Amino acid sequence: MFDTVIRGGRISTAADTFSCDIGISDGRIAALGTDLGPAREVIDATGRWVLPGGIDSHVHISQPSGEGIVMADDFESATRSAVIGGNTTVLPFCLQESGASLRESVQAYHAKAEGQCYTDISFHLIISDPTAQVLGQELPALVRDGYTSFKVFMTYEGLALNDRQMLEVMAVARETRALVMVHAENYDIIRFLTDRFEADGKTAPKFHAPSRPVIAEREATHRAISLAELSDVPLMVVHVSNREAMEEIRRARQRGLKIFGETCPQYLVLTEGDLDGLDMEGAKYVCSPPPRDLASQQACWEGLQQGVFSVFSSDHCPFRYDDPQGKLVPKGRSSFRWVPNGIPGVGARLPILFSEGVMKGRIDINRFVALTATNHARTYGLYPRKGTVAVGADADLAIWDPERRQTLTHDMLQDGSDYTPYEGLEITGWPMTTLVRGRVMVRDGALEGTKGSGIYLPRDISAYA
Ligand code: URP
Ligand code: ZN
Ligand code: ZN
Repeated sequence: MFDTVIRGGRISTAADTFSCDIGISDGRIAALGTDLGPAREVIDATGRWVLPGGIDSHVHISQPSGEGIVMADDFESATRSAVIGGNTTVLPFCLQESGASLRESVQAYHAKAEGQCYTDISFHLIISDPTAQVLGQELPALVRDGYTSFKVFMTYEGLALNDRQMLEVMAVARETRALVMVHAENYDIIRFLTDRFEADGKTAPKFHAPSRPVIAEREATHRAISLAELSDVPLMVVHVSNREAMEEIRRARQRGLKIFGETCPQYLVLTEGDLDGLDMEGAKYVCSPPPRDLASQQACWEGLQQGVFSVFSSDHCPFRYDDPQGKLVPKGRSSFRWVPNGIPGVGARLPILFSEGVMKGRIDINRFVALTATNHARTYGLYPRKGTVAVGADADLAIWDPERRQTLTHDMLQDGSDYTPYEGLEITGWPMTTLVRGRVMVRDGALEGTKGSGIYLPRDISAYA
């Protein structure tokens, strides 16, 4: 007797598409076949597509974001929005606060997440202060404990590492077989241009975009790849926004380097024109790197189609818009410089790629699964437990209605923000029912599961390390 059988669906993995029933026992996929026999619950998936639940390997939750600024999501609201949007696992970051021990920072995030999550979670680390203690002791111990990836920043006050520090971190990654993620933008170009714009009185949100031009991203991408090549470590260049940075990654891959790329919904459907709104409206779209132009959107699609980008993540980094602790920064700090960087997207990521990608014929369903689930699991040490439909894997499944048409609105996403940058987008296809380890968390579009059923996952080393 199975706990659950999902009957009559069309299943797609990163490799195949086939029709069969799925038998679930004890949270795992126990059988794939027909006439599977009795079950306590049968879910009819006739006419539906059954896909691995989404894994979003780039989300920020409850992360300190500067004086007086508060993130719009805690672990409850972020993972609620994630599961509503067809995700079953998310990977947020533990930010090492300057001067603090990395281990203490990690424990603080566990405390915030404990008992709050609708999806499973795992953590990347953000290394902001690579002291001898961090590099010599804390980081190797944390990698052994299952924190097998860490992000470094080449820009941002208090976060940016110089090249020497990046090399020190990469040396630890080499030693411990961890994967490095990089935020690649040239810090000095950004500081120089930001000062210039401010001196000229150009302080509106729209100047955020030209203060961080493509050149700043391309140069830093090239430099990060060079440092990773020297260090012989796999590198994930996150949130790539344009052709020139994408081509740096392509060239590195063609040379046989383990360089990977990620892009996000904002680079497919937004442009820098969105930052040019009335009053402060443009602040809703302030993220880094900024959205670019239509040609850059096309380049990001090509990167997804051609395998230059192996993962598609949200970079969910939510702030409320109509809020002095969010995008409407306090008076006296009226320049775009002070607008917190980041936009919400954990709930909208999968519907956007499904609708704009699969339904519009830009990518096939197998590539969709690879980009949204399987490759995340492989890259970050969760495969094959997560990211595929196979006997023995966790029963993390999203049952999609490929024909459902809706206009995207913020209230559909159930996150803690007060807007979505994707308001008004016409969406075809929706993840109607989502199961996390066999438990129905969303049924026919409505939240059914309870918070606290998501668990923490220590991770293996990356398949690429
Ligand atoms: O603007 C962004 N992307 N904010 C989130 C932090 C980061 O750099 O990923
Ligand atoms: Zn970043
Ligand atoms: Zn991010």
